[in-house]
Amino acid sequence: MLRREIAAIAALALFSSAAAAQDTAKIGLILPMTGQQASTGKQIDAAVKLYQAQHGSTVAGKKVEVILKDDTSVPDVTKRLAQELVVNDKVAILAGFGITPSAMATAPIATQAKVPEVVMAAGTSSITEASPFIVRTSFTLAQSSVPMAEWAIKNGIKKVVTMVSDYGPGIDAEKSFSDKFKADGGTIVENLRVPLRSPDFAPVLQKAADAKADALFVFVPSGAGAQFVKQFVERGLDKSGMKLIATGDVTDDDQLNGMGDVVMGVINAHNYSASHDSALNKAYVEAFKKANGGLRPNFMSVGGYDGMHLIYEALKKTNGSTDGEKLIAAMKGMAWESPRGPISIDPDTRDIIQNIYIRKVDKVNGELYNVEFATIPNVKDPVKAAKK
Ligand code: PHB
Repeated sequence: MLRREIAAIAALALFSSAAAAQDTAKIGLILPMTGQQASTGKQIDAAVKLYQAQHGSTVAGKKVEVILKDDTSVPDVTKRLAQELVVNDKVAILAGFGITPSAMATAPIATQAKVPEVVMAAGTSSITEASPFIVRTSFTLAQSSVPMAEWAIKNGIKKVVTMVSDYGPGIDAEKSFSDKFKADGGTIVENLRVPLRSPDFAPVLQKAADAKADALFVFVPSGAGAQFVKQFVERGLDKSGMKLIATGDVTDDDQLNGMGDVVMGVINAHNYSASHDSALNKAYVEAFKKANGGLRPNFMSVGGYDGMHLIYEALKKTNGSTDGEKLIAAMKGMAWESPRGPISIDPDTRDIIQNIYIRKVDKVNGELYNVEFATIPNVKDPVKAAKK
């Protein structure tokens, strides 16, 4: 081929890909689709697909294209994938992030490329402070842990042992629960931690049993609750008289029904239950189950569903502009009804404001659910609120 022709073809290819890029808003969705956090990836991917099936894939004249990548929840992989998505695929938005270290590893890329990073799962408070381009639609651990401490004190629990996964969200849960519980007059007997990867709860549960507290407060990430409950029962702690209280990550809707009747009566605090009583949630659960072979949506799924809503509405507000600064400005202060209830994005912190529900695991129509019985409205991340 003549050199001239090659140049012409190359120019054409460049032109058409640039034109296509202008008509398309690409979202790089990075999730753990395999490995220990795979249930989070599966839930969020399903919710993103459901959102697009319900709302179409064109918004403000732009075709919204989602590029899904599996980071296996290894933060170095997350970072490499984010880099490739920005540089090669020219994504306008990065989204997903199943665990805190993955969200953190991507923050410098979001800042340098001025690309919004929509955190749909990870829950450590400080994530949103790692880049001005981060916005969160999931939750923070303090949002659940502080109301859990308040409930415990009000309901006669005086001595507590805490047990958390030993990384960002666990440390936030431990500190925010313990600080509030002590401030309200309670005693923390011991703060115990278990490794995130391949945790063996047995030695820690033995220590908890020896401490003879009124209650054990637990955080383990989504996907690890069933294994924890199994070992809790194997060690006979369900019969020890020590109550189990938790963040709703433990009694995760993805696994709850398989945990068995031993979890009935467990009190926990969280932002979403599949049994949340609203018309919107009933429709959400039904559509989600229908599209996913009966799978029950969990709190991770709503983080993904709401993250897509935030992106779609921001694109509408910018008239389809994918400029990162404009998108972030459009996202700040946005408020809407989620399947979990009313939510908004705090314009000061870019973090989510949402109701926290106190729930009791109970049987409804033969299945185990987190049944909400009290609501703490419009909870801002307590860690950031305390810094002000
Ligand atoms: C996190 O890594 O931030 C994380 C993961 C799963 C949870 C909560 C927090 O359920």
